[in-house]
Amino acid sequence: MTSAFSPLSPLPPDALLGLMTAFREDDRAEKFDLGVGVYKDDQGNTPVMSAVAKAEALMLQRQTTKVYEGPRGNVDFCNAIEDFVFGVDAPVRKEGRTLSFTAPGGCGALSLGVGLMRRLGVKKVWVSDPTWPNHPKVVQSAGLTTDSYRYADPDTGTADRAGMLEDLAKAERGDGVIVQGPCHNPTGIDLTLDDWRAVGAFVKERGLIVMLDVAYHGFAHGLDKDIAGVRAFIDAAGEALISYSCSKNFGLYRERAGCFLAVGETADGIAAATTHVADISRATWSMPPAHGAGIVATILGDAALRAEWEAELTSMRERMISLRQALSGELVQRTGSNLLASLTTQNGMFSQLPVTPEGAKALREESGLYMPGSGRINIAGLNLKDIPRVAEIIATAL
Ligand code: LMR
Repeated sequence: MTSAFSPLSPLPPDALLGLMTAFREDDRAEKFDLGVGVYKDDQGNTPVMSAVAKAEALMLQRQTTKVYEGPRGNVDFCNAIEDFVFGVDAPVRKEGRTLSFTAPGGCGALSLGVGLMRRLGVKKVWVSDPTWPNHPKVVQSAGLTTDSYRYADPDTGTADRAGMLEDLAKAERGDGVIVQGPCHNPTGIDLTLDDWRAVGAFVKERGLIVMLDVAYHGFAHGLDKDIAGVRAFIDAAGEALISYSCSKNFGLYRERAGCFLAVGETADGIAAATTHVADISRATWSMPPAHGAGIVATILGDAALRAEWEAELTSMRERMISLRQALSGELVQRTGSNLLASLTTQNGMFSQLPVTPEGAKALREESGLYMPGSGRINIAGLNLKDIPRVAEIIATAL
């Protein structure tokens, strides 16, 4: 029988989401989920953060309407994220050279940024190799093409600034580039402050349009230190688009709390860009969602809740750092490879092991150790008691 849907052939399931389902359905007693990037505590749970639960209770008490908030969504939320990204007293804000919009998660913010790039005439967007698989997807579904730049040096486990700039030198004036902020996904390898300045000066000179993707603010060294690279880049480049996600640092995954921001050399340019971002947002989701952004605004607008959230964020970060150290120590001891010592210099939830897609499949099938084919591991999915066994499985495979 013919059908309007006949031209479609089925796509393979999204690799990460498929991994999540396979883990849930695996009934072996011994299994380890180092797949999807979700923070977990020692019991393997992802509880609602206590500052979030309190903010939600307050919101329920105070809420009098569900009427639309307007094109920018929650303006207090937008201003709070501008405080994070640009700084409370940043002159660019007083000069009207910034914009911010609430978006459905970091991915919604990325979509706004790619939509704006398109209106700026961008045809191709460069992403790091490797990167979060959704980066090329978002770009390509907007009808733009992608290319990639070297980012990580596999021999040292650190950033490859020379390779990055050599590849970006092939970009044409007016091309777009996505650069990840702190806690690169999937490698955990971050640019140094010096790298950020150099990349900023380079893209300015070459006329490239950069979007910084900040999805793990506070997971590397702390809120202030983690944003220093982004600010150094903006100082050097003068202009940037920024997507900011609150999924991880506020544990708001399903609430889709994100913010799209931009900073430009002229107030006129930003005023025009604001009308375009509003237009893209209107055509895509009409009005942004309120709940997640409301939670963040409530927490950041209340000194006690903010202190409580910062303390929770600190303990999450410290837990991930201690897991990294423990895993790295065990792996170095078992493999004798010093490369695995670099796990401790990497940041956030992820690091990438030298595992092939077939190797990752074998680890899953034979040992119940779940990781995507890229060899990325979610450090936050570990706990101290499992580390010797996980290290034994990985060391045998390596
Ligand atoms: C991840 O990289 O695992 C997370 O950002 C979740 C996702 O949507 O891919």
